[in-house]
Amino acid sequence: MEKFVIEGGYKLEGEIEISGSKNASLPIIAASIMSEEKTILKHVPNLTTFPTMIKILNYMGVKTKFEDNTLEIDPSGIYQFTAPYEFVSTMRGSICLLGPLLAKYGKARFSMPGGCVIGPRPIDLHIKGLKKLGVLIENEEGYIIGKVDKLKGNNIFIGGSFGSSVLATANVLCAAVLAEGETIIEYAACEPEIVDLANFLKKMGAKIYGEGSHLIRVEGVKKLKGVEYTIIPDRIEGGTYILAGYITRSRIKVNNIIPSHLFALFDKLEEAGLDIKYGENYFETIPKETWKAVEVTTLPFPGFPTDLQAQMMSFLTLSDGISLITEKVFPERFIHVGELNRLGADITLDGSKAIIKGVKSLKGAKVMASDLRASAALVLAGLTAEGITEISRIYHLDRGYEKFEKKLSSIGAKIKRIKEES
Ligand code: UD1
Repeated sequence: MEKFVIEGGYKLEGEIEISGSKNASLPIIAASIMSEEKTILKHVPNLTTFPTMIKILNYMGVKTKFEDNTLEIDPSGIYQFTAPYEFVSTMRGSICLLGPLLAKYGKARFSMPGGCVIGPRPIDLHIKGLKKLGVLIENEEGYIIGKVDKLKGNNIFIGGSFGSSVLATANVLCAAVLAEGETIIEYAACEPEIVDLANFLKKMGAKIYGEGSHLIRVEGVKKLKGVEYTIIPDRIEGGTYILAGYITRSRIKVNNIIPSHLFALFDKLEEAGLDIKYGENYFETIPKETWKAVEVTTLPFPGFPTDLQAQMMSFLTLSDGISLITEKVFPERFIHVGELNRLGADITLDGSKAIIKGVKSLKGAKVMASDLRASAALVLAGLTAEGITEISRIYHLDRGYEKFEKKLSSIGAKIKRIKEES
């Protein structure tokens, strides 16, 4: 295993390029199997997530080639419709293959994804939506088995207790595209990753209206074609570097972002008393020594993203006053709190709320990464902490940040990847 060793307290300076979006790539890769022709996806980030997704596709008989952030997918030889436990257990996002498989081939056998460190991860909304389109679903020995002769369009309300679901929307949207007749998806997720998926599907020949709103209308088509498509930039990676700039009181330029994907973050930065500067595709951090405490509530897009909650918490540990974070998407997603406190933060938990009393500075310590975004939060804290911070189990980070330490080093961070003695 590897760890990061960070020498904190250095200012950052320079420019960083944001990679393609992990969460947009996943459902788009899955949707590529809905055509019989080759698809070429550009700007796919080189993350450890994708070899697992690619392994599942290869297992199914799909040919792939991944080089220089370009992924070629040739689904013409697909003959297996099973996603086995050993793959799904390490990659929950592979569930987004369910809708495309049922849409194109009328069958899918999928290992039920379990919970994960950020809390329970049910798939009832995926199942409900697919059933509404005519899929018969059974549960057998930990596998969901879906079958359908011909998908039929329907009106589907897909909201749950926590609002909209991103991947349930992706699955149902893909299935609706090849269903007979019209489908209305109500309470659809509005995330930019869903808009990107819809744009991709439209390029393939789908007829989709209203993506980006809670009401998506789909007119089913018979066939989709293979296309070339460029994935949108990763808004969470962008937000993480923006917070890295502010927490280290540095001036950095974050390039290749779509600012409107991050307005919820910008709003909170301004409320904290920081100056912000952005243009069509970049953001510049304007350093300030102190910032005010703020209240943040995570919500589905366009609300504050749960995937930036941990990084925002690191930033707020140094605020002037008492901040409050309420997690409304994954109410148990607070595993980073204990580790941040080890670095000198003062955070207490009350159910799905975190109360963050601002401290003057953080102090380096040994901490453990626990999930992808929690690990990024520890890196941000380490960059500003006095002394050395060692973060073990950084494989979590490699699932979501392309060349993380290289990008940070290029703007002056003192961060090294080191093999851990076992
Ligand atoms: C996606 C993102 C993840 C992000 C999350 C929320 C990918 C690969 N992952 O995950 O990074 O944190 O959106 O923005 O894109 N829920 C149900 N029933 C369901 C499905 C979800 O109750 O059938 C609940 C979840 O437990 C959660 C909420 O709905 O409380 C939102 O989850 P969802 O949007 O589905 O997350 P994912 O799509 O899995």
